[in-house]
Amino acid sequence: MSKALDGVKILDFTHVQSGPTCTQLLAWFGADVIKVERAGEGDATRGQLRDVPDADSLYFTMLNHNKRSITLDTKNPKGKEVLETLVKQCDVLVENFAPGALDRMGFTWERINELNPRMIVASVKGFGPGPYEDCKVYENVAQCAGGSASTTGFDDGPPMVTGAQIGDSGTGLHLALGIVAALYQRNTTGRGQKVLAAMQDSVLNLCRVKLRDQQRLDRTGVMKEYPQFPDTPFTGTVPRAGNASGGGQPGSILKCKGWETDANAYIYFITQAPVWGAICKVIGREGWITDKDYATPAARLPRLKSIFATIEEWTMTKTKFEAMDILNKFDIPCGPILSMKEIAEEPALRATGTVVEVDHPTRGKYLTVGNPIKMSDSATEVTRSPLLGEHTEEVLAQLGYDADYIATLRAEKVI
Ligand code: COA
Repeated sequence: MSKALDGVKILDFTHVQSGPTCTQLLAWFGADVIKVERAGEGDATRGQLRDVPDADSLYFTMLNHNKRSITLDTKNPKGKEVLETLVKQCDVLVENFAPGALDRMGFTWERINELNPRMIVASVKGFGPGPYEDCKVYENVAQCAGGSASTTGFDDGPPMVTGAQIGDSGTGLHLALGIVAALYQRNTTGRGQKVLAAMQDSVLNLCRVKLRDQQRLDRTGVMKEYPQFPDTPFTGTVPRAGNASGGGQPGSILKCKGWETDANAYIYFITQAPVWGAICKVIGREGWITDKDYATPAARLPRLKSIFATIEEWTMTKTKFEAMDILNKFDIPCGPILSMKEIAEEPALRATGTVVEVDHPTRGKYLTVGNPIKMSDSATEVTRSPLLGEHTEEVLAQLGYDADYIATLRAEKVI
């Protein structure tokens, strides 16, 4: 079967998480992704958080599937010359170095554009132009600067970062979309372009509903669906909303049977207005269906805490899966709090290729998250991440270098 991005060649100058997430996706869509790494060390994540001595870490392997790896000292003049060849022959250069690093290497946008006017140069940076544009940034910095941390957590606690890597993987996703759009535009313009996804911007994009709420708060001074209402006065800033729903249908996390010993015996429960009657029947509160204090969404807003406490009395009598089965029969939106162990063992996720077992020559079998985007005419086959420099000779030969020259480059430690 062909792949959506067959024929697209990516010069993958990415490291750590944000950039590699992006190029891994492009590889899953069929692009030929050539990861350029420093000889000897490679992507720093190869050695970070190791669980198997001397084997590439899961951090690295899970972000670099379906790629080829070459080692190249791009600060050495001969290495620069190889990089120039790569620039000439590839469609896209993706990088997430610290601001200015590519320029310092001698590969400014102008230089790249001169070498290959069709090349798309795609970058992840921590911040866009502005006061922080020169800063190095990691995940949690982006979560803090993008509005996520100030709006995550509980009202009486400090700002919180989330487990979802919205700054790194979230920005990688944004960048991948920008690259595909630029490739599409190139079909008509014939030109490459610069694509920038700043981590702060990407996090903010994912926190869009909180900027919505800031403006609602500015106008009305209150947000009735927030857990602070009606007991705690609102300040001028969107507060942390605990586990309240980010949308117009109130929701909360409720205890289920076994919560005393199982940290994840909880369910997310949404009191969607159209199924309010069904909710009342399931929990044995039929009287609420007609009671004017409970019958309408507006009447319920000041009572959400006690409503969820009453629903919780019911959920605590069921396991999260029993509650799911019952509630789904009535189309009541809810979701079990799944642990990573439960997710790893879930057969349906294995069947769809969302969780995949991969074999690796030095670490053996491990689980990874496959391509979350399923396409009917471009299937994803997840293959293991490359060893450091595994494809150096192969790629250099394809670029047109002969074996003697490649041997010289190796002897001189350029590759
Ligand atoms: N050959 C020779 N030199 C190489 C090379 C190669 N193949 N690959 C990289 N380098 C050099 C770079 O040119 C740079 O050199 P310079 O500082 O002299 O210009 C140097 O290696 C280090 O790059 P840098 O990006 O500064 O790495 P770092 O480990 O110090 O910082 C980050 C890591 C993630 C903080 C930083 O890259 C960053 O802020 N990136 C943008 C935001 C981002 O993506 N963050 C999320 C990461 S998940």
